[in-house]
Amino acid sequence: MNTIIRYITTDEKKNTEIFDKARDVLKNGGLVYFPTETVYGLGADALNPAACKKIYEAKGRPSDNPLIVHAASLKEARSVAVFDKRAEIMAQHFWPGPLTLVLKKQPCVPDEVTGGLDTVAVRVPCHSTARKLLEQSGMFIAAPSANLSGRPSPTQAAHVIDDMDGRIDMIIADDSVNVGLESTIIDMTVDIPVILRPGAVTKEDAQEVLGENVTFAKEDAGEGSPKAPGMKYRHYAPRAEMHIVWGDVEKMSATINEMAAEAGSEGRKVFILSGDDTADRYTSGEVVCLGGNGHEVSVNLFKALRRCDDEGADVILSEGFEETGIGRAIMNRLIKASGNNIIRV
Ligand code: TXA
Ligand code: MG
Repeated sequence: MNTIIRYITTDEKKNTEIFDKARDVLKNGGLVYFPTETVYGLGADALNPAACKKIYEAKGRPSDNPLIVHAASLKEARSVAVFDKRAEIMAQHFWPGPLTLVLKKQPCVPDEVTGGLDTVAVRVPCHSTARKLLEQSGMFIAAPSANLSGRPSPTQAAHVIDDMDGRIDMIIADDSVNVGLESTIIDMTVDIPVILRPGAVTKEDAQEVLGENVTFAKEDAGEGSPKAPGMKYRHYAPRAEMHIVWGDVEKMSATINEMAAEAGSEGRKVFILSGDDTADRYTSGEVVCLGGNGHEVSVNLFKALRRCDDEGADVILSEGFEETGIGRAIMNRLIKASGNNIIRV
């Protein structure tokens, strides 16, 4: 398949042509890769079952893992999901933005999107390119993160071109993703709303707006199927072996230095992921600074994991991060990327 790659420019007329082309591709049941504020999405017409099926094939994604439906506005979203009072409050406060709500679905949403569930995950993104695509096409776009299943989610056009070139019809390239981790997912269909996937909208943010308790899903409860089916698969994984070291700064950096020296002496190529403040502590290996605060770390994390792969890392040693606010989402992705390989010191 020949993939059409088009770059968003400062010329609005040209951009309009790009969105027109994308709408045509989507209307014909094709797949379009597009940026959102979190990560790039691999989009199809959410109301076209055959088109949604193609997403699973392109990604190598298990078919029981449902897709998020992207809508242009809350008003539009009401035709795919049932909003009760609490859901209205959440949507009005956080949309457009990096929050996905799991709600009872409307009958028009096909099983191919929901994996046969009676709920649907829906969000209104705030990235200008995603918004214009949704507004100009007048469509609902079902889109998972645009990585191949199991790989880190793409935050730059080059990533998706690496993973997906030749597998999809069109790529809208625009490197202005500004959250870097996938949206927070909250199940609003239960008495106490449950965060199925932590993200930039934090538990504290949600509780403040709702004025009630919100909990985290017990991912590893081991009973029945997890509520966000996607969370059971190994995710975000770089090719290299990865360890997270977390605890007191002195002990953490000393342990990372020891592990780096040992792997280095075995001739293995070591990368260290660190915060800006601690980067100077490392004496061997290639140090990749993720940033000086949670926002910067979240923007850079997946990019950094890909860079380690591209540069042939054998071992990635990452610092851990405080699990408050967005730190919870950062640690969630690190833990998944490492296959739960965390050393507490
Ligand atoms: O930031 C994001 O959310 C990105 C961008 C493209 O919007 N999308 C994204 O999609 O991360 P994906 O498919 O990689 O992750 C969606 C997650 C999966 O874990 C899936 O199992 C869960 O949402 N999910 C979807 N529908 C659900 C439902 N009805 N109930 C529970 N979980 C659901
Ligand atoms: Mg994903």
